[in-house]
Amino acid sequence: QELQLNLEQIEKGGYDHFMLKEIYEQPEAILDTFRGRLLSNEAVIKLAGVEDNMKKFLAAERIIVVACGTSWHAGLVSEYIFEDLARIPVEVEYASEFRYRNPVITEKDIVIAISQSGETADTLAAIKLAKSKGAFVFGVCNVVGSSIARETDAGAYTHAGPEIGVASTKAFTTQITVLTLIALRLARAKGAISSSEFRHHLIELETIPSKVKEALESDGYVQTIADIYKDAKNFLYLGRGYNFPVALEGALKLKEISYIHAEGYPAAEMKHGPIALIDEHMPVVVIATKKGHYEKVVSNIQEIKSRKGKIIGIVTKGDKSVKELADHVIEVPETIESLTPLLTTIPLQLLSYHIAVMLDKNVDQPRNLAKSVTVE
Ligand code: G6P
Repeated sequence: QELQLNLEQIEKGGYDHFMLKEIYEQPEAILDTFRGRLLSNEAVIKLAGVEDNMKKFLAAERIIVVACGTSWHAGLVSEYIFEDLARIPVEVEYASEFRYRNPVITEKDIVIAISQSGETADTLAAIKLAKSKGAFVFGVCNVVGSSIARETDAGAYTHAGPEIGVASTKAFTTQITVLTLIALRLARAKGAISSSEFRHHLIELETIPSKVKEALESDGYVQTIADIYKDAKNFLYLGRGYNFPVALEGALKLKEISYIHAEGYPAAEMKHGPIALIDEHMPVVVIATKKGHYEKVVSNIQEIKSRKGKIIGIVTKGDKSVKELADHVIEVPETIESLTPLLTTIPLQLLSYHIAVMLDKNVDQPRNLAKSVTVE
């Protein structure tokens, strides 16, 4: 028993929980994900699974992403990236809905299945269905040799390393990293972005690990915020564009490990319902980075403030407007819009982690949840 405990402590590498360790591993994990694949000096992205099937990718009329949970959120982020950069239409589907819907799917579709474990039953079944209709299926998995990795026609691993905490953290950011690499490679191959834009993206992506490290420095302040709001019964998370899926993911993290009810919403949809919930007891986490609908988000923040909601803004370093309105702001370094999710996610992970710890919840193994869901 004691030996077992010590072993676990060693595995946690000095952190109190696997989740925290994995949050802190993200700079390295993201680096591992693009190491050898992103060659910014040569302005090249090398992904064998994409290169070997380039004809199919270029002929694809659309991409259908299938996934569950956090992986589905990474898929939603990829919708913005693929459409914005590579100009390929994308649909993002819950694997569990897709497989039972008699979906319209043909040989002209590319299905991208995203899964940390590579074992999720619904995702696996969705892949089998897509294959039976003649679609080319590409996997983005973390676990090497997993069922989904084996079932797909080709793929790219995330290389995040083992993720033990049930609440997914580094798997999410590395999934986004791989999907960004794929989108950029296709964007270049299709001529949808210029070579200088392409190069600019590569250079920016290379700076992300150090910017994630910088974002992690907000940890102490996030802890202070966690202490103030840990007893709230509900949380709202808002974001727009690339950061809408990040809002969903932030809310999911809080639900999963702290058991506090949280909802993620596109900021502009607030007026169609959730605004009715806002009063002085409602903490609202708003992602309001400089790039991407900034002014519009600021006006959403004003609407929350006039209803006395408590505002926690995730902002770009040096921000002024949100700082004037919000109760708290957490800064992340500046980057290009398409890469902001990799930074804005970090404080949201930390916020849910600290609240769960303060509420004395089982952070790494929350009740009723499993790391890999092999039943439907
Ligand atoms: C479970 C896990 C989540 C994960 C989801 C999908 O619900 O608790 O963290 O996002 O399954 O798992 P996958 O392994 O397919 O990414």
